[in-house]
Amino acid sequence: MRNLRDAELDGKRVLMRVDFNVPMDKEGNILDDSKMRAALPSMEYILAHRGKLILMSHLGRPKGKPEEKYSLKGVAAHLNDLLQAPVSMAEDCVGKEVEERVEGLNPGEVLLLENLRFHSGEEENDAEFTQQLAALGDLYINDAFGTAHRAHASTAGIADHLPAYAGFLMEREVKMLSNVLNSPQSPRMAILGGAKVADKLGIIENLLEKMDVILIGGGMANTFIQAQGKNVGRSLLEKDLLTEALRLIEKAEQKKVKLLLPTDVVIAEEISTDAAAAVASVDEVPEHMMIVDIGPQTIEKYKEEIYKAKTIIWNGPMGVYEYEQFARGTREVTEAIANSTAVSVIGGGDSAVVAHDLGLENKITHISTGGGATLEFLEGIKLPGVVACGA
Ligand code: 3PG
Repeated sequence: MRNLRDAELDGKRVLMRVDFNVPMDKEGNILDDSKMRAALPSMEYILAHRGKLILMSHLGRPKGKPEEKYSLKGVAAHLNDLLQAPVSMAEDCVGKEVEERVEGLNPGEVLLLENLRFHSGEEENDAEFTQQLAALGDLYINDAFGTAHRAHASTAGIADHLPAYAGFLMEREVKMLSNVLNSPQSPRMAILGGAKVADKLGIIENLLEKMDVILIGGGMANTFIQAQGKNVGRSLLEKDLLTEALRLIEKAEQKKVKLLLPTDVVIAEEISTDAAAAVASVDEVPEHMMIVDIGPQTIEKYKEEIYKAKTIIWNGPMGVYEYEQFARGTREVTEAIANSTAVSVIGGGDSAVVAHDLGLENKITHISTGGGATLEFLEGIKLPGVVACGA
């Protein structure tokens, strides 16, 4: 990929796509600004090299027209604090007023455009909208890894009109995720959890080609457990994927990939704050109970494997970690990854939240800012936003 260091920035209008799609509460307070912080190195570099920085992002999923609750105004205010440089905000992302604001921008100044998805042309990758955006810059930087799986005007189309480069976040994400997928260092391990196998089928398929060890936990483990002829009681189960799960188990055997499933589990009658938790072997899950976490024996086995690994990619919790009595598996696995000497990458979403909540983010080599983008990358799909940077 061409990257920011290759770009001539001095006095130029630097149009950069960022992913400031941050979670917010009803009052508009930002609940997690890690995506914004992750883009700071690129922004600071551009400003230090006297670029005129024009930022574009989406927020939420407005349907192609302005909606106050999806305005980026709150984001602009927060960016002002983070960047310690004055950030001004445009009323729209294209049009005359925006062009004038860009015209008046000095080197080292920042202008944040209003939500791109207030125009349907963004998601449609519409030619005219793309040209209007492109006219605002002399060059284009894509630092929005979290949106790289979308072929939208600002993430893909625009690269046909301007010299395009990857920002530092985009570069780091691609490098770290590629490193764990293609590491020459064995054992290479993937830890997969989360609710559904359906969301992870493509990933498992791709990882069976790349990994030495795959540990499975979370709700998705249930389908694998049942596929082996056991009974998972009232647990979450994807009946239509039992054959597929069995095929993956068999494929792992053929490929000599160590695919490990829980041997014991935490069970409960219901998922609630005061539900009692018990431990059972996977051979003895009672009919009226459901699986809510991996059990202590499985935790020990998984930890043993984690400490042997040289590279680890982890996506998805091991249980219903939002409830204290079902959180142990996810917590201990996260701690083991943090304490291991392996190159470790956390693939976004809930797993990233857990690492942050446990204060372990500095002990993980890389925590991806992507949700869907990271999953598609791990599936081996070429992301339009990455291709746009010349990959
Ligand atoms: C994300 O939060 O995963 C990205 O910002 C992409 O958002 P989207 O799923 O609405 O395209």
